[in-house]
Formats: sequence, structure tokens, C-alpha cells
Amino acid sequence: MKIRLTAAAVLSALLCASCVSGPSGAPSTPPDAASAARGAVLAAAGDCRGCHTDTKAKGPELAGGAAIKTGFGNFYAPNITFDKDHGIGTWSEADFARAMRHGKGAHGEYLYPAFPYPSFTGMTDGDIGDLYAYLRTAPTSAQPSKAQDVKFPFSVRPLMAFWRVLFFRSGALAPVAGQSAEWNRGRYLSETVVHCQECHSPRNLLGAIDKANGYSGNVDEPKAPNITPGNKTVAAYTVDNLVDLLDTGMTPDGDYMGGEMATVVEGTTKLSAADRHAIAVYVKSLPARASKPAKPKAPVKAAS
Ligand code: HEC
Ligand code: HEC
Repeated sequence: MKIRLTAAAVLSALLCASCVSGPSGAPSTPPDAASAARGAVLAAAGDCRGCHTDTKAKGPELAGGAAIKTGFGNFYAPNITFDKDHGIGTWSEADFARAMRHGKGAHGEYLYPAFPYPSFTGMTDGDIGDLYAYLRTAPTSAQPSKAQDVKFPFSVRPLMAFWRVLFFRSGALAPVAGQSAEWNRGRYLSETVVHCQECHSPRNLLGAIDKANGYSGNVDEPKAPNITPGNKTVAAYTVDNLVDLLDTGMTPDGDYMGGEMATVVEGTTKLSAADRHAIAVYVKSLPARASKPAKPKAPVKAAS
């Protein structure tokens, strides 16, 4: 019975991949300024530019990123400026919400989870609307997006239907009853907008986040440490230490975050102090999980 239900879900998902004929057009009224301002903060915290801007090559903002190298091939985050030909300038808010919440493109095609939609799906309608309003106000660029360069069978987008049935559940994240409003706010920001797990959790062989070992670190790309109390360094951080880290990138030892965490902090520093505190409270509450063992090194030839 279970298997038949899954098969039916896959079939309907396959059929539905072609049920949208294209973007339905941006509104003619200008975006609300307050909404766009909130969206700018969310875009920073969600690090859209980290993938969608080729910062190393000083490429135009949000007009397409450098290769994201994975075991499945190279992914390129496309142009998400409001350019009508090369960006999302003809997308309605519903088209945009379909991408963020359901991981589907303008024609209903399945997007790859190299785009962290499995985290963004948890965002509220209001936050998705604010992001959309912000993108409408950001400078446009006519830079064409690069085609994805992914290995077979992952190059066949409709096959993502199977992946989605196995690993993807769409919908806004519901608050956990019995937890404080602050804890729930921290969980919301960590799980959805700032998508900590996309870097800090291990993944299975098909690239899906291993939530049972959530936040225990990832030894593959993007490499990131265990941030549960299973990591002695992090266990020693107080809530205030974590707040400082999310604000300035500095650890209690005076070290600064490097690599991708430095980029994340450029976003979290723009959040309100209350939001950073909420994230810290949530991270402090994570159960201790053992760090994933480092990958065995290639065998070294015995010295002769
Ligand atoms: C970790 C990298 C990464 C981050 C962070 C990221 N994206 Fe993306 N995004 C991608 C990739 C890769 C694709 C292309 C997926 C595909 O082609 O299947 C994509 C696709 C999209 C699309 C669909 C565009 C289209 O033409 O189909 C939208 C919309 C989008 N991203 C918006 C955002 C927003 C808004 C943010 C920030 C809140 C964001 N992304 C953050 C990697 C990222
Ligand atoms: C784009 C990937 C990425 C995302 C998203 C991300 N991190 Fe990180 N994080 C890293 C990397 C990489 C490091 C290691 C940085 C270093 O060692 O300089 C790190 C380091 C840390 C550390 C320091 C650990 C230590 O041993 O001192 C903490 C705490 C942390 N991250 C918390 C978070 C939280 C909380 C979130 C979400 C709100 C988050 N990170 C989102 C990649 C990421």
C-alpha cells in the first residue's frame, strides 16, 4: 500500500512538472518600500548573493554566480535580477513563491536542491513576499544565466521527482508548542532563512540533509563544523558568545570566522539584535551530537 502510494505521488509529480506554461508577469504597481526594506535584510541573512553573484569575478549583483562544485556536477545559480529576458523580471509573486516554497522554476520544472529550497520552503508567505519586493527594487542585469553542468542521471530534471518524494516536504515551518516565542523565532531563522543545516549537517548519498544528525557538521563540500555541544569548542560558547559571533564573526578566543561563515555573518549582522539572540538561544538548545568522523585518508604507502 505504502509503495503504491509513493508510486502514485511520483507519477502525479512527473505529470505536474509540465503543468505551468510560464511566468505570469510582474505586478504593474510599484513594490511597497517597507516590504522591500525587510526583504533586503532577509536577502542578506539568506545569503542570496553568496551563490547568485560571482563575487570573485566582480560580476553584477545577483546576476548569476560562479560554479558550485558538488559530487553531482557544477551548479550555477542563475540571474535573479528583474531583467525581463535573462532574469526573473516577468515573474509574479506566485511564480517566485513557487520557486522558494516548492522548488519549481517558471515552467514548473524541478529545481535542483543546490538551491536551498528545502530550507527556504519553511519561510512564511510574508517573508517570501518581502524578498520578492526587495528583488523588484534591486538593480537589474542582462547577464545570461549559465546552463547547469550536472552528471547523468541528475541532468534529467524530471527524475528529481523521485528525490522530492523521498526527501522534500514543502510548507511553512510550524512553531513547536511548549517552546518560547524566542526559541521558535531562532529555530525559524536557523532552519529556513539562514539555512544553517545546508552547511552544518551531513548529507546522504543522494545529497539530502541528514536531519537525524542535524548540525553535527559536514565533511564534504560545503565543509562546516559540528555546532552542537558535541563539539567541545562550541559547547563552551555562551549565548552571548554566539550572539557576538553572528554579529562580528569573532569567537571568544579572538579568532575570526573564515570562508563561508564569514559570508554568513555579513548577513546575520544585518538582522536585529533580538533575532541574533534568538538564533543563539536555539543553537544553544541543540542536542549534543558526535561530529561526523573525518573521511579516511588515502592509504599511505609503507616506507621501505
Ligand atoms: C547555496 C546556493 C544558493 C543560495 C544561498 C541561494 N540560491 Fe537561489 N539558486 C541556486 C541555484 C544553484 C539555482 C538553480 C537551480 C536549478 O537550476 O535547478 C537557484 C535558483 C533560484 C531561483 C529560480 C530562478 C530560475 O530562473 O528558475 C530563485 C528565484 C532563487 N534561486 C532565489 C534565491 C533567493 C531569493 C535566495 C536568497 C534568499 C537564494 N536564491 C539563495 C543557489 C542558491
Ligand atoms: C554557507 C555555509 C554556512 C552556513 C549557511 C552557516 N555556516 Fe556556520 N560555519 C560555516 C563554516 C565553513 C564554518 C567554519 C568557519 C571557520 O572555521 O573559519 C562555520 C562556523 C560556525 C561556527 C563556529 C564553530 C566553531 O568551532 O567555532 C558557528 C557557531 C556557526 N558556524 C554557526 C552557524 C549558525 C548558527 C548558522 C545559521 C544561523 C550557520 N553557522 C550557517 C559554514 C556555514
